[in-house]
Amino acid sequence: MKSTQVVVSKNDPINYSGDLLVCLITVNEKEDLKGVNLLQPLLNKVKTLEEFKGKKGELLQLYPSFGNDIVRLKCKRLLFIGLGKINELEDADHLRELLRETGGLIAQQCKKNHTENVCISLQQYAGLKRESVAECLTEGVLLGNYNFSKYKKDDPDKNPYPALKTLVFVKSSKTAAVKKSIERAVNCSFSVNDARDMANEPGNGWTPSHFARYAKRLAKNYSLKCRVLNKKEMVEIGMGGLVAVNKGSKEPPKLIVLEYKPEVKADTILLVGKGLTFDSGGISLKPAAGMMDMKYDMCGGAAVLAAMETVAREKPQVGVVAIIPSTDNLSGSDALKPGDVITHYGGITSEIENTDAEGRLILADSLAYGIEKYKPSCIVDLATLTGAVIIALGHHYTGILSNSDPLVKQLTDAGSACGEPLWRLPLGKEYSKQIESRIADIKNTGGRHAGSITAAAYLQKFVGDVPWAHLDIAGTAWDFTEKSYIPKGPSGIGVRTLIEFIRSWKNNLSKK
Ligand code: BES
Ligand code: MN
Ligand code: ZN
Repeated sequence: MKSTQVVVSKNDPINYSGDLLVCLITVNEKEDLKGVNLLQPLLNKVKTLEEFKGKKGELLQLYPSFGNDIVRLKCKRLLFIGLGKINELEDADHLRELLRETGGLIAQQCKKNHTENVCISLQQYAGLKRESVAECLTEGVLLGNYNFSKYKKDDPDKNPYPALKTLVFVKSSKTAAVKKSIERAVNCSFSVNDARDMANEPGNGWTPSHFARYAKRLAKNYSLKCRVLNKKEMVEIGMGGLVAVNKGSKEPPKLIVLEYKPEVKADTILLVGKGLTFDSGGISLKPAAGMMDMKYDMCGGAAVLAAMETVAREKPQVGVVAIIPSTDNLSGSDALKPGDVITHYGGITSEIENTDAEGRLILADSLAYGIEKYKPSCIVDLATLTGAVIIALGHHYTGILSNSDPLVKQLTDAGSACGEPLWRLPLGKEYSKQIESRIADIKNTGGRHAGSITAAAYLQKFVGDVPWAHLDIAGTAWDFTEKSYIPKGPSGIGVRTLIEFIRSWKNNLSKK
């Protein structure tokens, strides 16, 4: 959590006197205990037991201070944790993910034992530098240690665990590089946990005004530029989509714009995140079962906003503008109706066939507005846009749809490096035909078939030639494929992909 301190130390792990000392053990490497050689006889004995051989995910916790005549350790607990046969992993990205998962297991163990201070003995593996090992372990521990207890006020059994206080890496060389990569991991993980915090808030605890307040606070703390458009301003400039979706609600809509500009002149990346703080479907009301989950319909907006804090801290050599259109989608007496026609920012008209296809309406305005105002080199939007993407990809991959092959490559590489895999779905005129309207320029649904693609085809109408990628995170924003470092609830998906994408930005997106 945000209070955890992560540090590097040159001290001998044998002298670590905190709650838990962790050693990672493989099945095949010879030097697992390099730097902690004293523990080798103990490990050799332990390995003769059938319970622990260093297989992936195996845990063995020992209590050296309870009388151990093999080694004199000062820590309260010693944890051996198995990595398995790491030489058989496909590539470095898989090893990175294994280390994150291992960090997650350490975090779970800490939660269970209410551990506050942990030390990990840092090793290096073929194909992965020591600093990358530290980075992935840090991410795994900080992300896995997350918990949301704000609304638990009256639990008699509750003995609150405030999260880890310190995480120490012990090693002997290259301290500067390790420190730097730990800092990256800390920034990134704090951003992810912030996005999870926003998403865990209920619909009545996280409204468009909360988004706006959060963005303004970030702007103040980090000298970013923040503008929040209110309903009156939206009406004046013709943001017909966002205003239309908001019509059934008493809660005012907000369009939040947060801008980071490097000192030197540079490209601008535009991020857009769907900030639908509760989606009832509107007049095209959703069924009751599972409707509660629709408080998570703001996860795209949360990801984009949370990522901006890391951007502001790390100050990359590329401009980043985040736009979050935010409202809830309710069915008050003035609500948008099926059959209504609306006019988007920029003039495109749309016939509303289903008021539950609201995400594309608020994103369309934001895309058109962002392109006009900021002339971005590329756009990435994140949205819990369609149930159809869950049918297509389940909870394991995020769908990506784009008009630019190089942009897809940059984003999928970034996703793969951080354990947030993306899978591309096609676009094309056959799909765009499905959203043709008899009476307006387009309509907001495209029939039962290829629902995620027709939703993206709608957005595509608003981006013109600008390289653009749409990430449909409906399947991965919560209930994401089970991982030790992703506790139940919202995953914070997209935050790390965006950060990695921005960190490794190079403009090779030839305009079509
Ligand atoms: N927010 C939903 C998409 C969604 C559904 C996300 C389930 C996560 C889980 C979106 O606004 C929506 O309702 N989409 C409709 C579109 C349809 C009416 C064309 C959908 O997917 O059913
Ligand atoms: Mn909807
Ligand atoms: Zn929605």
